[in-house]
Amino acid sequence: MNHALVPIALKTPDRAYTILIGEALIAQAGALIAQECGPKRLLIVTDENVAGFYLAPLESSLKEAGHTLLPSIVLPAGEKIKSFDFLQELMARLFDRAVDRGVTLIALGGGVIGDLTGFAASITLRGIDFIQIPTTLLAQVDSSVGGKTGINSAFGKNTIGTFYQPRLVLADTKALETLPRRQLLAGYAEVVKYGLIQDAAFFAWCSENAHALLAGEGAARITAIQKSCAYKAALVAQDEREAGSRALLNLGHTFGHALEAEAGYDNEALLHGEAVAIGTIMAFDLSVAMGLSPAAEAHAVREHFMQAGLPTAPAAKTYDVDQLMAFMAQDKKAKAGQLTLILTRGIGKAFVTANVDPAPVRALWEQVVKS
Ligand code: NAD
Ligand code: GLY
Repeated sequence: MNHALVPIALKTPDRAYTILIGEALIAQAGALIAQECGPKRLLIVTDENVAGFYLAPLESSLKEAGHTLLPSIVLPAGEKIKSFDFLQELMARLFDRAVDRGVTLIALGGGVIGDLTGFAASITLRGIDFIQIPTTLLAQVDSSVGGKTGINSAFGKNTIGTFYQPRLVLADTKALETLPRRQLLAGYAEVVKYGLIQDAAFFAWCSENAHALLAGEGAARITAIQKSCAYKAALVAQDEREAGSRALLNLGHTFGHALEAEAGYDNEALLHGEAVAIGTIMAFDLSVAMGLSPAAEAHAVREHFMQAGLPTAPAAKTYDVDQLMAFMAQDKKAKAGQLTLILTRGIGKAFVTANVDPAPVRALWEQVVKS
């Protein structure tokens, strides 16, 4: 078994923390948390699926290392819990357990649990500590790192939230063994994103190693997660609050978020990573249509996604273009009603651009949802 423990440091103006990546870290979590943060009073928040696999092993590891545990909170699984209703439910359960400022929350799960728990940590008693133990590929390569927290609302995806960094991130690659294949693939969309944004060589690595990574080859997984977290840590360190370069991480997301909102955040219909994959293809296609990117590069990306098994267009053709445009206008990067998008001059050459003309965007949606 590969026990490689790859640490990455992330430093923002007022927080520094470590991202540890390796096999079987949940079993070692108690000792690792004690080493990084000292003995703690801890409260695990997780979902029903993840609890079935990892709650008992995590609780044992924490107790064995001498931490004090408050009773864990298990929520339903799925994007629907990133909502005001479930935020209130979570807060009620935290106060039932007499949470105080000395308690550290542990988000054990995918991006949904991480985003919701991080948000709750950021507003409970004006802010308590939290630790991320991501269990999906998407959460290990993206959402557990960088401190974006929040919920969805009638105003759009992730429109209510905070920037609030965790104290520690423990990414256990062994947890990916129980992750359904569809979820694994959805997370892969966020891995390949880093190559598409800024490193054509990493895109080439992905093209060569996607099969091994998705098949469960340990070294490929560690490399993919380590490279992804290193790219993300560097961008977050430069621009924690997304005033500029951090927005590159949103490649494909403005399109993808609109699709998710139109799909009613229904995970059966569309996963976040699937929406990002479709959105990434759209960002490349728009860049080609605007004369920015060579068509051959967009074609190479589409081919790779298809070979990996990622969607390149929405399956259902019932999306409403006016609604999709309205959701895009609610995007957090939009200013004074003008779209800001991540476009590209080719693989590894993404850039952020404001005041995007909506006409070619609408034309692309018409083509995508009606073809
Ligand atoms: P998720 O949290 O819904 O997890 C996917 C599914 O897999 C769930 O049903 C979950 O119960 C199950 N699961 C999780 N780990 C498992 C495991 N090891 N074995 C078996 N089942 C497991 O989805 P996700 O894709 O991890 O996260 C998507 C969310 O992340 C979206 O809400 C998105 O907006 C958010 N996100 C946030 C950031 C950020 O920077 N904060 C970045 C990217 C995405
Ligand atoms: N996932 C985008 C970001 O963290 O900025």
